[in-house]
Amino acid sequence: MKTYEIAVVQGDGIGPEVCSAAIEILKETLGSNRLHFVEHPAGAEHYKKTGVAFPEDTFNACKSADAVLHGAAGLPGVVYPDGTEAGLDFGLQLRFRLDLYANIRPIKLHEGVVSPLRKYEPGSIDYIILRENTEGLYASRGAGVRIRGELATDTIVITRKGTERVVRQAFELSRARNGAPRDGKRRVTCCDKANVLRSYAFFREVAVEVAKDYPDIELDFALVDAMTVHLVHRPDFYDVIVTENMFGDIISDLGAATIGSMGMSPTAEVGDNNGFFQAAHGSAPDIAGQGVANPLGTILAGAMMLDWLGRRHDDEGLLEGGRRIQAGVEKVLGGGKIVPRDLGGSSGTREVVDAVARALV
Ligand code: IPM
Ligand code: MN
Repeated sequence: MKTYEIAVVQGDGIGPEVCSAAIEILKETLGSNRLHFVEHPAGAEHYKKTGVAFPEDTFNACKSADAVLHGAAGLPGVVYPDGTEAGLDFGLQLRFRLDLYANIRPIKLHEGVVSPLRKYEPGSIDYIILRENTEGLYASRGAGVRIRGELATDTIVITRKGTERVVRQAFELSRARNGAPRDGKRRVTCCDKANVLRSYAFFREVAVEVAKDYPDIELDFALVDAMTVHLVHRPDFYDVIVTENMFGDIISDLGAATIGSMGMSPTAEVGDNNGFFQAAHGSAPDIAGQGVANPLGTILAGAMMLDWLGRRHDDEGLLEGGRRIQAGVEKVLGGGKIVPRDLGGSSGTREVVDAVARALV
């Protein structure tokens, strides 16, 4: 039976807690010898100790592993002389260097979870934010210009190649789904600011070209400012939303809030050769080490990892494992007895992990 090497970076703050939780569930699901977890250092704590946030050995291990699993990185006070956070270089450089261009963020309101949007029931919010992950404004990470303490610039980068491939991925994702909850229509929404900047007008133009290959799927447009309103007022209209890097970062936090919490939001960051899996939330240093973090985002990211690996290697055992984790999480949330703190309950990390482990069938 094929085994897979998973490079693990636990990271900072609650990173180690949620990462260990996901590993426990993955082992419980598949037994202990299908996935081989190997830990590597990176992040803000590592930077404090060594002056390096993302060691080259860790990069090489991530590159050659079958997949990368991450807790969370970054600590607010741990910054470079330019003021930006050092710990973030793990995730950011991994995206750039492994060309993980598609950041897939499912926004799904689960059974048993109450949305702050009063009208919306489980099942009625179920869309994907596909965040372009290697270009956009964040492409300028570490490369902006500061002049004499007088001015600073960062440059947005949008390429035809980068836009084509991510928009194509959006249509492929939509094709594999059942459409928007509101009307069952397969729909790709291009979210940009094409009315103001050339770069976004170009992004939209390329999206229109790619859409010609997918006549069965509706192409829709939304300006990002209006999108923040739509995601509150009509989240059921959305199926797949494709957007520039920074816009995707911002609207995915908004989307996560509508499904209860950032703690419910997994992400899969994939390129043609590598996959990187984590929750969309940060390292939450204020609650680190207390055993109260919600591990479900990272556990669900573990399920996405199995799904991605399973498809890549045509491995039914892994695909099945991913479905079982997903179903286990849904069973726990639907049961209503175990409710993590960020969803208004009082269940700690341990209780949530034990409950998911018991719910795996
Ligand atoms: C995310 C995070 C990252 C980002 C940080 C940690 C670099 O906020 O994955 O959404 O800004 O992309
Ligand atoms: Mn973010």
